[in-house]
Amino acid sequence: MAERVIIDTDPGVDDLAAIYLALASPELHIEALTTVHGNIEVETATHNALSLLELAGRTDIPVYRGASKPLIRKPHFAKHIHGNNGFGGVEVPDPTVSEAGEYAAMEIVRLCNEAPNDITILAIGPLTNVALALSIDPGIAQKVKRVIVMGGAVRCAGNYSPVASFNLAADPEAARAVYDSGVPVVQVGLDVCTKVRISPENLERIRDTNTRPGAFLLEAAEFRRKAYVAAQQSSETETGVFFNDVPAVAYALWPKLFKAVPAFVSIETAGEHTAGQTVTEFTGQWGHSEPNTTILMDVDGESLARRFAERISTLETRVAEVQK
Ligand code: RIB
Ligand code: CA
Repeated sequence: MAERVIIDTDPGVDDLAAIYLALASPELHIEALTTVHGNIEVETATHNALSLLELAGRTDIPVYRGASKPLIRKPHFAKHIHGNNGFGGVEVPDPTVSEAGEYAAMEIVRLCNEAPNDITILAIGPLTNVALALSIDPGIAQKVKRVIVMGGAVRCAGNYSPVASFNLAADPEAARAVYDSGVPVVQVGLDVCTKVRISPENLERIRDTNTRPGAFLLEAAEFRRKAYVAAQQSSETETGVFFNDVPAVAYALWPKLFKAVPAFVSIETAGEHTAGQTVTEFTGQWGHSEPNTTILMDVDGESLARRFAERISTLETRVAEVQK
């Protein structure tokens, strides 16, 4: 049976790639997209979530608007990486379908209570909505199957600061609330995301199938690739592209591609230079006998990238199957 997922997202070029991977995959049943501030404002994130679904022919999936800002801090956006419109400046028609009439956190609470131990939250933006849902109803910590978090940097540099990843640094207090809640967390951080380069050959594979969603993704990806080269985050991006949110969805599909290690993660909230850092105990130095997180530390990046391209190439076929 397909795994039931809520995708909590700030689309975002990487989010677009990750959501299209999920839409192309029969292993996942997407219950809802919930939107959050992050790469861009939540208004734009909500517009983009509706647009990307419509472009893929999946207007049956509801979109719930979420938090417009972090729990206590000012928002920080990543428009230099994702463009002012979140899709690298590539125009997409305005959606004809409206967002659902409930807030994201409330819908997360409702779904988790309706289907205890069944719902996975794929959190590919800042964790504000998930923290709010846990604050409204702390009992859902025992009802969520797992939260797969795109974020964290354990043995590598951050992409927001030298030590912190964007999604966790964008709302450290929310991240801390989620990690401390007792909910099972799988951390898909930069330790693995930086090893999943979508090569020109794999991008070509998507181009060859000549689908509308595939062409849109490739166009948006080019902005992101150039932005990363400009930011000198990786010279490898000159010959490929990194979609940081894709490995989080890929873990739900193909866990055997990853090396997973249990550990206790504390989210730094007090540091002047380190907010959002994933302070990681592998050996119980601070006396935490039970791990609170499954951390992905390694990945077969080439295999993942190949599978990603194959799946995106079959997106339209999959959508046709679902709509039958
Ligand atoms: O890594 C920076 C941002 O791009 C994050 O929001 C991540 O989720 C991706 O969308
Ligand atoms: Ca994201």
